[in-house]
Amino acid sequence: MKITNARLRDRDGLYDVTIDSGYFVAITPTATTHSDTSGEALASRAPDDIDAGGALLCPPFVDAHLHLDYANTVGQPRLNETGTLFEAIDIWAEHKAQGYVNHDTVLANALDAVRAEVSNGVGFIRTHVDVTDPDLTAVNALLELRDQVRDWCHIQIIAFPQNGITAYPHGDKLLEESLRRGVDTVGGIPHFEGTREAGIESLRIVFELAERYGKLVDVHCDEIDDGHSRFLEVMAEETTRRGMQGRVTASHAVAMAYYGPGYMAKLLPKLATADMRFAVNTTENLHLQGWGASAPMPRGVAPIRTLTEAGLNVAFGQDSIADPWYPIGEGDLLRILETSLHVGHMLNESYLRHCLDFITTNGARNMGIAGDYGIDVGKPAHAILLDATDDKNALWHHADVLANIHHGNVVFTRARRTYTRTIPGF
Ligand code: FE2
Repeated sequence: MKITNARLRDRDGLYDVTIDSGYFVAITPTATTHSDTSGEALASRAPDDIDAGGALLCPPFVDAHLHLDYANTVGQPRLNETGTLFEAIDIWAEHKAQGYVNHDTVLANALDAVRAEVSNGVGFIRTHVDVTDPDLTAVNALLELRDQVRDWCHIQIIAFPQNGITAYPHGDKLLEESLRRGVDTVGGIPHFEGTREAGIESLRIVFELAERYGKLVDVHCDEIDDGHSRFLEVMAEETTRRGMQGRVTASHAVAMAYYGPGYMAKLLPKLATADMRFAVNTTENLHLQGWGASAPMPRGVAPIRTLTEAGLNVAFGQDSIADPWYPIGEGDLLRILETSLHVGHMLNESYLRHCLDFITTNGARNMGIAGDYGIDVGKPAHAILLDATDDKNALWHHADVLANIHHGNVVFTRARRTYTRTIPGF
């Protein structure tokens, strides 16, 4: 198939992109440039060909942090009245204890969430799955889901011990069993363990399992309004000591928002040496953090700009879709990007020009798939069409996603919006 008249990021002019057997095989300048973004609705010519009409062809969005097994469970068994993270954890424990978690329900709810994400231009999802369950019901459901959707969405699963590794009976064994069953990445939650020492011990277990099974690491780290929560430095030390640079992600890292400049000056070089990756969930933590704080209100979000300017890889995630932690969400990464750049004081032209990196290539780096990701000849043909001319334009106008293509499969196309003029001069 061919995609004609497409804009590409950081390139002038229009291009024709040829896909064969699921891979990009040619990218050539369009011979005659007769299309523009204000032109006709997206049209198909040959059965599979797409006339992009000047729309921006870019890699699919990457949701770097999501909890698919929690999706669409809000209100079961009750709503989160305080809005806090720890009430949400309590509600989830009740949810499990009251028998809400069963294979078919988890699968159906998660599938709805993946469809919502893909309709918003996502092609890659890194999801956590709760492994603090003696039956590992959600693990089995998400492993099935990963296979079920593989033709139209790539899912990477992280074993996530929601109720702790040392704090939950046989937490370490459940974590390991989930890896044996085929989960891709090892997770943790050190700030939730009983003591600082137990948190450090939980990280030792996470890193040892990752080494033994050859897995990446992605830990919920310091997701708490407490500047004394400092497991990030432990993660950095473990990463460097074991030579796992570039294979480890810290998710949330909310406590960083409370660290003073002296400690940050010590911490940032350690994070850089470890080539630590970050998954920041801006909309979620703006909602969850800072309850009960007095003025000035903390943002409760990791310092995105500081991390970026220290050379660290930052990606963004939805985190929740209608669950005890967050009552809305639909995998709209452009919306999350916009919120994140506001919170990070990053509406400078230099960031706007390449802002899609945060929801594309940076997420792919976290997932360890960057080598096969991007619009280049020889790579798997994953792409979306945005009704925009460039990164800034896509963010500014919250560009519609006109097509989503996964490994050469056209998952959907969507017509450009058209407007009926009813007022003279409008
Ligand atoms: Fe999370």
